[in-house]
Amino acid sequence: MSVTKQQVLDGLAKVASPRGVPLTNANVLSEIAVNDGKVFFSINVDAAEARAWEGVRAQAEAAVRAIPGVATALIALTAERKPGGAAPVPHRHDPHGVPHVSTHRPPQIPASGSPMSRQAEIPGIAAVIAVASGKGGVGKSTTALNLALGLRDAGLRVGLLDADIYGPSVPRLTGIREKPQLNDAKKMIPIPRFGLAIMSIGFLVEEETAMIWRGPMVMSAITQMLRDVAWGTLDILVVDMPPGTGDAQLTLAQNVPLKGAIIISTPQDLALIDARRGLAMFRKVNVPVLGIVENMSYFECPHCGTRSDIFGHGGARHEAERLGVPFLGEIPLHMSIRATSDSGTPVVESEPDGPHAAIYRAIGQKVRDQLQGVIAAA
Ligand SMILES: Nc1ncnc2c1ncn2[C@@H]1O[C@H](COP(=O)(O)OP(=O)(O)OP(=O)(O)O)[C@@H](O)[C@H]1O
Ligand SMILES: [Mg+2]
Repeated sequence: MSVTKQQVLDGLAKVASPRGVPLTNANVLSEIAVNDGKVFFSINVDAAEARAWEGVRAQAEAAVRAIPGVATALIALTAERKPGGAAPVPHRHDPHGVPHVSTHRPPQIPASGSPMSRQAEIPGIAAVIAVASGKGGVGKSTTALNLALGLRDAGLRVGLLDADIYGPSVPRLTGIREKPQLNDAKKMIPIPRFGLAIMSIGFLVEEETAMIWRGPMVMSAITQMLRDVAWGTLDILVVDMPPGTGDAQLTLAQNVPLKGAIIISTPQDLALIDARRGLAMFRKVNVPVLGIVENMSYFECPHCGTRSDIFGHGGARHEAERLGVPFLGEIPLHMSIRATSDSGTPVVESEPDGPHAAIYRAIGQKVRDQLQGVIAAA
């Protein structure tokens, strides 16, 4: 039996807004996406009233989940700050797992202090780290997954969250096709694969559906994927960020309790300029940059092993030195990295004794060393 949008609307009509109006008449609902038993939408409210709406969001979610045939409901509360209006009160994690509030306006950057003072940590996770790039297509997702496996090989309990809501690639890179189940507490259970706990918006929606998500809804959905997922106990959660340094990325960097960020760049000058932007973004929000990785650093011929520096290799190392951040390693452009990614069997898993796995493990070791204090303290 497939769920219809009308059934969802009927369910929501029974939920009242804080002013007592049925939710369906309150003019706050986004487009409702219903897809194979999965329901997604946001409730868009004025920031000043956001707190009053938190309970409504939870009721709406319960109402939707009660509809026969609904497997998952992801309902985000997003708040828009009116020009000149009061800023939303930043609130810490509440016991109902209500997402944080984000805004349409450029996020406010705290003048000082650690970003950790602004968001609650995620219970059970010692360190959340971001893998980011200023530019798309530089191999961020490939590196994030193989780095997660390198950290696993360093003896850590590791999770991977694909936060690239516009173009989730973790389903392809891992070959995961199944949908996450809910536990008794109605939290999504991450998919276990390769010894990692993995979650991606791509497990829930088709790629085209993911594309329609805009602005605050993106942040809200990501916050929910962080907090409404039963991650269990993890030493490190690696977050594959959406590419770029726009508002969405800045909000994310600001709202996710990050212990550090890793910037992926290729050696080309243009990519390095973008990498610099990425670095500046994390510095603005006081997230420590754990280092830069140069991906597609040099070309390694799969037949003869000859190395060619087709992109002018070494730019990222030089840039890291110039900017005073650690240089974590160079990954060659190699067919087997591409082929293993495309077939859903990442190279660290499928060729564990090969040279590329060794490179990712060495990067993982450097990252682990930097986070040692945080992991040991948890
Ligand atoms: N070191 C490498 N050698 C060969 N191919 C690579 C390497 N790193 C990534 N690739 C390939 O490059 C393509 C882009 O990689 P990936 O999807 O990881 O990039 P991305 O930065 O996450 O992209 P997006 O910006 O779209 O999220 C993929 O086909 C991947 O297999
Ligand atoms: Mg990607």
